[in-house]
Amino acid sequence: MAKLTLKDLDLKNKTVLVRADFNVPQDAELKITDDTRIRSTLPTLKYILEQGAKKLVLISHLGRPDGKVVAKYSLKPVGARLKELLGEEVLCLNDCIGDDIKQEIDQAKGKVILLENLRYHAEEEANDAGFAKKLASLADIFVNDAFGTAHRAHASTEGVTHFLKSAAGFLLEKEIQYIGGAVSNPDKPFMVILGGAKVSDKIGMIENLLPKCDAVIIGGGMAYTFLKAGGQEIGNSKLEKDKLDLAKSILKQARSLNKEILLPVDHLVVDKVDPDAKSEIVEQIPAGKIAVDIGPKTVKLYQDKLKSAKTIVWNGPLGIFEMDAFSKGTLEVAKFIATLEAVSIIGGGDTAAAIAKFKLEGKMSHISTGGGASLEFLEGKTLPGIAALTDK
Ligand code: 3PG
Repeated sequence: MAKLTLKDLDLKNKTVLVRADFNVPQDAELKITDDTRIRSTLPTLKYILEQGAKKLVLISHLGRPDGKVVAKYSLKPVGARLKELLGEEVLCLNDCIGDDIKQEIDQAKGKVILLENLRYHAEEEANDAGFAKKLASLADIFVNDAFGTAHRAHASTEGVTHFLKSAAGFLLEKEIQYIGGAVSNPDKPFMVILGGAKVSDKIGMIENLLPKCDAVIIGGGMAYTFLKAGGQEIGNSKLEKDKLDLAKSILKQARSLNKEILLPVDHLVVDKVDPDAKSEIVEQIPAGKIAVDIGPKTVKLYQDKLKSAKTIVWNGPLGIFEMDAFSKGTLEVAKFIATLEAVSIIGGGDTAAAIAKFKLEGKMSHISTGGGASLEFLEGKTLPGIAALTDK
C-alpha cells in the first residue's frame, strides 16, 4: 500500500521529527570521511524548512554504542557538518529524550535541532514503546528519511510511528521508487550484477531476483564458488566449500527457468593478495594462483550482455577494487554502465564505495544510501521502517 510522503503533509508551524541515517564513517580524529548520507537528506530538510515548519528536530544513530554514552559516537561532528551544508544554525543537544530536551527544543532560537545519538539508550534498539512515545512527544509529525536503517525495527523507525502521523522523506521515497521498482516491476531486459566476496551474502538476493530478471552476471570472490561448482579449477581463489551444493542448485534453477548466469571467462591472478604482486591474465587458473579481478574478455562479455539492458541492479564489486591494481574489471564495467540509458541502481556499501572511488556517482540513476537495508530490500523482504509509515 502506498505510504504518506512529505508532499502529503501540511508542515506549516509544525514541529517535525525527522529520523535520518547520519551513521557516517569517521577517521580517528572523528573527522567525517564521507558525508553522502548527510547530503542525501538535505532535500527533505530544506523542503520542511521552506514549508514553514516551526522546528525541525533531527534524530539518528551513529555506530553501535550498545545503550551506553560513548563519546566517539556523538552526533556533534554531524551537527557541525550539517550546519555547513544546510547554511543554517544547528543546535546540538546532549540527549534525545526527556523534559529538559523538550524545553530546549521549545526555547531554541534557531529552527534546526539535532538530538544526541539514539543508541546511547538501549531502549532504541529494543523498540521500547515508552521510549518511542517520549520521542514522539517532542513533535507534531514524523518523517522517516533513514533508508539505511529502514531494515531495523527500532523505536525511532518503527515504534514512533504508533504515536505520530508518519511519512517518508524524499530520500526514502527515492530509494523505494528505484529499488522497490526494480524488485517489483522492472523495465526489461532486467540484468543483475552480483559480486563481492561471499556467495552466502547474496543467496537471498539471487533467490528473489533470478525469477524476475533476464540474466545474472557474477564477479568478485563469489564467482569462484560458482566456477568450482561448474567443475572448473580455481587454484587458491576464494571458495566457500559449504556453499558448493547451493551454487550447483542455483545454476540448475537458472537453467530450468531459462535464465542466463554469466561467470568470468578469464581472470587476473596473483600468487598472493598484494597490490605489488606479479599478476597475469589467464583463462584457466593454475594451481596455487588466486583470482583477484575479472579479465578483459570477461569485461567485454559482460558489457555485450549489459548493452541491451533497460534496468540494471548492481550489488558487489567484481574484483578487489580497493587495490588499484585489481580494480580494472569493476571500473570498466562501471564506466560502461555510465554510458547506457538503462536505469542503473547501485546497491549501497562496497559497490557505492567503488562508484565513488571512480567518480561516477553522477552517471548512475540511483546509488543507494543503505548497505544492509538495500540488500534486504533486494531480497524482497519487508522493511519495518517503511511498512510502519502511515498509509495514504
Ligand atoms: C548502516 O550503516 O548500514 C545503517 O546505518 C545501520 O546501521 P546498523 O547496522 O548498526 O544498524
